[in-house]
Amino acid sequence: MAYAAKLWFLLLLTLFHPWCNSLVDAGTLCQQVPCYFVFGDSLADNGNNNGLKTQAKVNYPPYGVDFKDGPTGRFTNGRNFADIIGELLGLRDFIPPFAASEGRNIMDGVNYASGGCGILPETGRHQGEVISFDQQLINHNRTISRVTAALSGDKKKTADHLNKCIYIAGFGSNDYINNYLMPNLYPNSKIPPDQYAQKLINKYTQQLSTLYNYGARKIAIFGLGPIGCIPQEALSSRPNLLGCVENTNKAVQQFNNRLKPLVDDLNAKHPGAHFTYINVSNFAPVIGVLNKPCCKISEGAGAGQCVPNSAPCPFRSFKPFFDGFHPTETGHILLAGRAYVSASPADAYPYDIRHLASA
Ligand SMILES: *[C@@H]1O[C@H](CO)[C@@H](O)[C@H](O)[C@H]1NC(C)=O
Ligand SMILES: *[C@@H]1O[C@H](CO)[C@@H](O)[C@H](O)[C@H]1NC(C)=O
Repeated sequence: MAYAAKLWFLLLLTLFHPWCNSLVDAGTLCQQVPCYFVFGDSLADNGNNNGLKTQAKVNYPPYGVDFKDGPTGRFTNGRNFADIIGELLGLRDFIPPFAASEGRNIMDGVNYASGGCGILPETGRHQGEVISFDQQLINHNRTISRVTAALSGDKKKTADHLNKCIYIAGFGSNDYINNYLMPNLYPNSKIPPDQYAQKLINKYTQQLSTLYNYGARKIAIFGLGPIGCIPQEALSSRPNLLGCVENTNKAVQQFNNRLKPLVDDLNAKHPGAHFTYINVSNFAPVIGVLNKPCCKISEGAGAGQCVPNSAPCPFRSFKPFFDGFHPTETGHILLAGRAYVSASPADAYPYDIRHLASA
């Protein structure tokens, strides 16, 4: 019942889009910010890994089966949550992946997200090349140089432009899935969960401060979902009756618990900053019992991703997971909707993205 209610709320939100429908004649008024930048992992990647030597890429069917351009490198059947937040912000086009941004309009924003990557530079490296948050920040610096050039070298205008944009950052899932939970490949697994979470937070603090120093002022930080409840985890460890691996969820909670204090700390130390925390832990009770992937899953190389050209399941709108790790578009709509307009005070702190836009 709760699930149905949330779904309904979000269908209303995405289909109805009241902010824009009431302003059809004034197209630009619907757009709430001039630009939007995305930093993250496979949940937000829109094609940055396609040209990399890596197992962490999915530019093949059945990915994109419900997307207008087919398989683009998005790790789901349709749009991902970063795409949907862009739509809710009123941007008319999807922002380009950094990898394909040469010559494209970068003034509306760029997506740097890379499947498999994390906060720590070594995260996900067993899969091949991935673009870590550190490298995404270096790429952003290159974008800023191009923005400055487009504004005739005017640094003041560049800063004015950049501090009006919305920035989202979603990292940490792979620092667990593709690092901490792989004791044979990564020595971090020996660190106790609370110390590992603190190690991630220390690095994240530094990276988010760099983003601020690059002119970002409106920054939404996404917490981690219940990683112990994803199909791939439940396959490889011992799940409880709800289909979730409790130890994994507890370890991840150590990281999530530190994000609200992180936001307070960043806001206190950086004048004019609006960092906000998006809490996505509330999906746990819903997805645990439904954690069946929607395609045939690879074993070995690219484990947990759909087997290329395998048939996607029917009724995808009612399934939470597309492959062994990633939500369907429906899952992304739920996530994006609650991040944009919080459905309860626990969803966002101190504000949701709609309020961040006007902060
Ligand atoms: C960002 O790029 C500029 C050149 O456009 C360079 O001077 C600066 O050192 C770079 N910053 C970092 C942190 O890499
Ligand atoms: C995040 O949401 C969960 C579930 O609604 C809630 O139990 C938890 O207290 C929230 N966390 C924060 C930091 O608000």
